[in-house]
Formats: sequence, structure tokens, C-alpha cells
Amino acid sequence: MRVAGLGAAVPQQRVSNHDLAERLDTSDAWIVGRTGIKARHIAGLGETTTSLAAEAGRRALADAGLAPAAVDLVLVATATPDTPCPSTSARVAADLGLRASGFDVNGACSGFVHAFHTAAALLADPSIGVALVIGADRFSSIVDPDDRGTAVLFGDGAGAAVLTRGEAIPGAPGVLGTDLGGDPSGVAILEVPRGGAYVAMDGPELFRRATRGLVASGSAALGRAGATAADVDLYVPHQANARIIGAAADRLGITEDRVVLDVAERANTSAASIPLALEAAQRAGRLRPGHRVLVSGIGAGLAWSTVYLRWDR
Ligand code: UT7
Repeated sequence: MRVAGLGAAVPQQRVSNHDLAERLDTSDAWIVGRTGIKARHIAGLGETTTSLAAEAGRRALADAGLAPAAVDLVLVATATPDTPCPSTSARVAADLGLRASGFDVNGACSGFVHAFHTAAALLADPSIGVALVIGADRFSSIVDPDDRGTAVLFGDGAGAAVLTRGEAIPGAPGVLGTDLGGDPSGVAILEVPRGGAYVAMDGPELFRRATRGLVASGSAALGRAGATAADVDLYVPHQANARIIGAAADRLGITEDRVVLDVAERANTSAASIPLALEAAQRAGRLRPGHRVLVSGIGAGLAWSTVYLRWDR
């Protein structure tokens, strides 16, 4: 398995902390100090989970140098589909003119890594040679714009990865170690309550458990690969809060220079955060052939998922 291409898409409208402070009892200093977030992109008219996902997918295919007809499977991780049926993956497949279809994965903020893990496993099926894996969320559709406790944290966007079976580095496995897990006792810590329209969250409790979960899952995946933190060239965790990422990296023993931090301009984009961060890292020249990359998602459920990869492009 290898990642053959990456793509990103965010809505046009950028909303800064200063913009939010004009209508909410908050401040740029509070938001930056508690989260590292300076701005987020919020979907406007015509920008949907599907349109963002399709755009990210189109860019990932272009990055991989592949035509839409080459795709055998499309998975979309999202907690905010535009409609309950059909799946977002079916709508994206139609928009991109794919010959293949697929299914959605709802793992909230850990969804992209769940979907990546699933696609990597399905590449063992001889009928699947190219998988398009997309994380896309429009959390602005489920966040109360008047609740300062959540409205400042989230943004909209989509990121995509093209997975192929080919081995650019002969004999080298793509996936070195994985972990799938969670803490179901935390199911109510971040939820859209039954009958409710908006996300409700116990922020401090989520902060503690998310940090613990990232550390547990990252360690487990490294352990299964017989590796340690010294064997991580780049750490790409879910981008919710710079302080959670810093605390998890510190406890794992991964130094700051090996951590991808992508919250400042995008905030927490849920399932999109990891592919957006990977794409930003690639653009910045931080992903090189042979790099060992630790990718960890965590989110509502609580659910988490980690893949420890050898990068080979
Ligand atoms: O993908 C997973 C999604 N979510 C997360 O990962 C969130 C995890 N949690 C967090 O990131 C942090 O808990 C927050 C950033 C949400 C909050 O930071 P905190 O350091 O845990 O602050 P707190 O919730 O303990 O709130 C401190 C104070 C409170 O005031 P009092 O009760 O001390 O008077 C809040 O009412 O800050 C107040 N507050 C705000 N003040 C200004 C809460 N939100 C805001 C705000 N602006 N936007």
C-alpha cells in the first residue's frame, strides 16, 4: 500500500477570531491561548460536504496523476453528510464521474483514519487497486453559532488521499503498525444529543481523554511495529487543539520538530483535519520517501484509530 496523492479543499470564506469576537463574548487572545486557532473556513451557499469532498478528491487524483476512471473504491469519512441517503461517497462518485462507488464511515474526528485503515485492508482484494479516501465535514451545520464554547473551535473542509497497491520502495510494507480502539464510557462527552440540532461537549474532560487516547493509540501502533518514538519522522495527529497535540507528542516522546500542527488557519475540521494536515506537510516538503509517519485520529465516541506508515513518494 502506498499513498499516491493528496488533495485539500476548504470553503472560500475565512472567519478570523476577531470576526467571531464581534458577535460572541470571546477574544482572539483567549482562542489562540487555549487552542492555537486563529481562523477557520466556513462553508457558504453551494459549499456542501459533497462539493468539498469531491474537490479534495479531484485534487488528490491530479496529484497522483490518475484519471477518475482508475478508482476502484471511494470511502468518505464524515459525520455531517448532506443527506442521510445515498452515502456521501455515492454523491462524490457521481460528481467525479467515477466508475466505482463505496460507502461512508462515521468515526467523527477519527473517521479519516478509520477509512484509511479500511481501504488499506481492502487493497488486499485483487479487484481493488486504487482507493480514494476522503475526510470531509461541514461542522458549521451542527455547531450553534451563538455558543462560544464550541463555535470558536470548528471549521469546514475536506482532505483526500489516493491509496494504491503498488510498491515504490520494493519490499517495503506501507502500513507498519495499526491500532483501533476507544473509550465508550466517554460516549456523551461530545455528541449531538438525541432530538438536538447542535454539538454539546464537555471540553475539559474531552481534553484529558483525547490526550490519553492519542498517547495510548500511538504507543500501541508503534509497539505492534516493534518501533519507538525515535522511529517517528513525522507525527500527524487529529488537529483539534494545539495544546492537546503538544501534550500528546510530549508524552509520546516525539519532539516538536517532528509534529505537524495545522490548527491555526483551519481550526478543527473533524474528519478532514488529518488529510488536510498531511497535504500541508507534503506541500511544505516535510514528507519524504522512506519517512515513517504516525497518523492518529480521535473523536466522538470516544473512538480512535492510528496507522503507522512508511511514506514512499
Ligand atoms: O475533536 C474533538 C473536539 N473537541 C476538542 O478536542 C476540545 C477539547 N477541549 C478543549 O480544547 C478545551 O477544553 C477548550 C478549548 C474547549 C476549553 O479550554 P479550557 O482550558 O478547558 O477552558 P474551560 O472550558 O475550562 O473554560 C475556561 C473559561 C470558562 O469560564 P469560567 O467558568 O472559568 O468563568 C469558560 O466559560 O473560559 C470560558 N470560555 C471562554 N471564554 C472566552 C469558554 N469558551 C470561551 C470562549 N471565549 N470562546
